[in-house]
Amino acid sequence: MAKEDIFKKLVAHCKEYGFVFQSSEIYDGLGAVYDYGQLGVELKNNIKKYWWDSMVKLHENVVGLDSAIFMHPTIWKASGHVDAFSDPLIDNKDSKKRYRADVLIEEQLAKIEGKIDKEITKAKKRFGDSFDEQQFRETNPRVLANKTKFEELHTRFAKALNDGDLDELKQIIIDQAIVCPVSGSRNWTDVRQFNLMFSTEMGATAEGASTIYLRPETAQGIFVNYLNVQKTGRMKIPFGIAQIGKAFRNEIVARQFIFRMREFEQMEMQFFVRPGTELDWFGKWKETRMKWHKALGFGDENYRFHEHEKLAHYANAAVDVEYKFPFGFKEVEGIHSRTDFDLSQHEEYSGKKIRYFDPELNESYVPYVVETSIGVDRMFLQVISAAYSEEQLEKDTRIVLKIPAALAPIKLAVLPLVKKDGLPEIARQIINNLKFDFNCQYDEKDSIGKRYRRQDAIGTPFCVTVDHQTIEDNTVTIRYRDTMAQKRVAIEKLENIIGEKVNFKELFGKL
Ligand code: GAP
Repeated sequence: MAKEDIFKKLVAHCKEYGFVFQSSEIYDGLGAVYDYGQLGVELKNNIKKYWWDSMVKLHENVVGLDSAIFMHPTIWKASGHVDAFSDPLIDNKDSKKRYRADVLIEEQLAKIEGKIDKEITKAKKRFGDSFDEQQFRETNPRVLANKTKFEELHTRFAKALNDGDLDELKQIIIDQAIVCPVSGSRNWTDVRQFNLMFSTEMGATAEGASTIYLRPETAQGIFVNYLNVQKTGRMKIPFGIAQIGKAFRNEIVARQFIFRMREFEQMEMQFFVRPGTELDWFGKWKETRMKWHKALGFGDENYRFHEHEKLAHYANAAVDVEYKFPFGFKEVEGIHSRTDFDLSQHEEYSGKKIRYFDPELNESYVPYVVETSIGVDRMFLQVISAAYSEEQLEKDTRIVLKIPAALAPIKLAVLPLVKKDGLPEIARQIINNLKFDFNCQYDEKDSIGKRYRRQDAIGTPFCVTVDHQTIEDNTVTIRYRDTMAQKRVAIEKLENIIGEKVNFKELFGKL
């Protein structure tokens, strides 16, 4: 099945089973804003727990914070967001559609890469086992021509971005003959910068009100609380502050479901270090974060690092963790070495000293910062994309979400084989005993096979069936989602069997 079809199915599945809904749907929706349904919120909470505990519980030098969304407007002046948090936009005059100029060029680069991949796939088929990919890449004329095209475009694009040269970005779009996907024309406007921050007014009257911004990242709430946390927590460098919270960006190209939203959630950690050690810490956090992703078991080959073409105004090194979504490798998380830019700016704009006295060096300095920043919603999409599978069985097919057990919204379903003979009462009793530890669901409707399918579709790792033998010997069958294997076990063993598998410990053990 084509990857786009899988993605469409996945989006429909998220709605059908109560994971994700379009915001304000009964009013025809609000673009790039989504609500999480009864199962989505459970999965989201579990993702946040996996991140929070791995940061705050497992690192004794990382503590948490929950700062407000509204902040003093000068913070965004100091951070550079008022002046520089913008995207280069271009409009097509025929379709009246607006695009990010950099995204149009990135897609063109991906097209060239795709041509190379196609040649390789074709050759692999033709030559079979004797195929030497490296030699083919180095000698095939079509691959070499596309490689040169890619490198030339890449160099030109990176330079235009770094120079902030908007005319050159437009010229690249024209030279590459990039067309509007809607009108098919090359009738483009000039490229302009567009600030992504939402603003609103705080204060009762128009005269007394001041413009404030909805935060476009949670990080600034951490920077402006650096001194509070460091002093009250008696934190010694190196140490980190972690935060989960909402962020808002007026994204122009809002596509691909919850991948790019206007209201989303971030999990960010700022790690404060001694100046000069930041690149070592950058390397360490890069590895730590990649391990966190890979521990979920979605396949190491589906991850890669992507070095930034253009460093943000605050960074001296930056890398993305990319995951292979059904629509290609895309950023899930950013790891940035932000130097002392933010704290120094806040020193300057607030007039307050933001320093750390390092007893080992016997000197004060503005700490350097390494940041890890991941979107909860993108992580959610990663989990759902990796978990969704359609399996051909002997008689029919099943849709199953192979969500890692610790993250699954419902841990077990308890199913009485029939609605009589005291079986529902036993099933309810099992739930009453287990509900303090696990999210359980009771289901007595339809055949047992249909009930298994419903649980497969929402990713429940265990189904427990109560039948007539249960009345005689207090045993039930436990069915495993991924293998569909069934085993007879004593009711009293359920807590241990399930607890062992859904516990976060197994995941944390891999970090
Ligand atoms: N504090 C640094 C920062 O915000 P970023 O690369 O702009 O860096 C970090 O964002 C992460 O936040 C991204 O890797 C992505 O997972 C998530 N993110 C950013 N914009 C998003 C959007 N519009 N919708 C959903 N997630 C987004």
